[in-house]
Amino acid sequence: MLETSRRWRREGDSVGLVPTMGALHAGHMSLVERACQDNTKVVVSVFVNPLQFGPAEDLDRYPATPQRDLDLLRSAGVAAVYMPSAETMYPAGATTRIQVHGVAEPLEGEARPGHFEGVATVVAKLFNAIEPDRAYFGQKDAQQAAVVKRLARDLDTGVEVCICPTVREADGLALSSRNAYLGPEERKAAASISAALRRAANSYGAGEHDLERLRREVLEVLEAEPLARVDYAALVDAETFRPPGTLAVLAVRIGKTRLIDNHDLAQPFPG
Ligand code: PAF
Repeated sequence: MLETSRRWRREGDSVGLVPTMGALHAGHMSLVERACQDNTKVVVSVFVNPLQFGPAEDLDRYPATPQRDLDLLRSAGVAAVYMPSAETMYPAGATTRIQVHGVAEPLEGEARPGHFEGVATVVAKLFNAIEPDRAYFGQKDAQQAAVVKRLARDLDTGVEVCICPTVREADGLALSSRNAYLGPEERKAAASISAALRRAANSYGAGEHDLERLRREVLEVLEAEPLARVDYAALVDAETFRPPGTLAVLAVRIGKTRLIDNHDLAQPFPG
């Protein structure tokens, strides 16, 4: 992969990387589309990274659709799909891990110990394996995006980290590979997550700028949905992921499925 990518760059191509864990959906494909606009060669990595899953999480049942992913990526015209095995990424004896402090610590960092260490380690390895000019991540995983930006700067990777807008279903639910876990009733209930963000963004737009009142509005919508259980709902600064700020970040369990979403309340909610 590295030889090919280096050859492309020697020949004057620019290389865009879209890191994924497969089970591709329209959200991933929007990253691929943007990468294809910005670069002459696009590499999509497909690797379900064991290091970023906790022991009680869904590594064993994470959706995998490799043939469909390849078909989609072929139709999108990407130059390469990089699908390393776990042994290639983490050969026996590999013990080095990358820890991002600060932005990786609150919220998802607290709820999922070791998660961002796993993400940071695999992203750094993908940057080394591909040496892209640019790499593309979704705003849906806002804290991950901030962690990767920090890592790219702090490790002098020279990779430009590009964050692309969240893609949503018609009812507002943010696209996620984990939506596949939802049963029909749960799927309906999951719309409460974006409804909560929409309500707070509308209130902010109408002049309500008291952050605690806005947070309570978010909670009210979620608490009215019997299948939803809030892990956290916070209004944070988009750089530090600590309060105060207008970025509303949510982690909500719908049945056994944990979903995250976010929206900057200072912006109108889409749709
Ligand atoms: O967002 C994801 O799918 C993963 O966290 C990533 C960035 C591909 C790293 O494994």
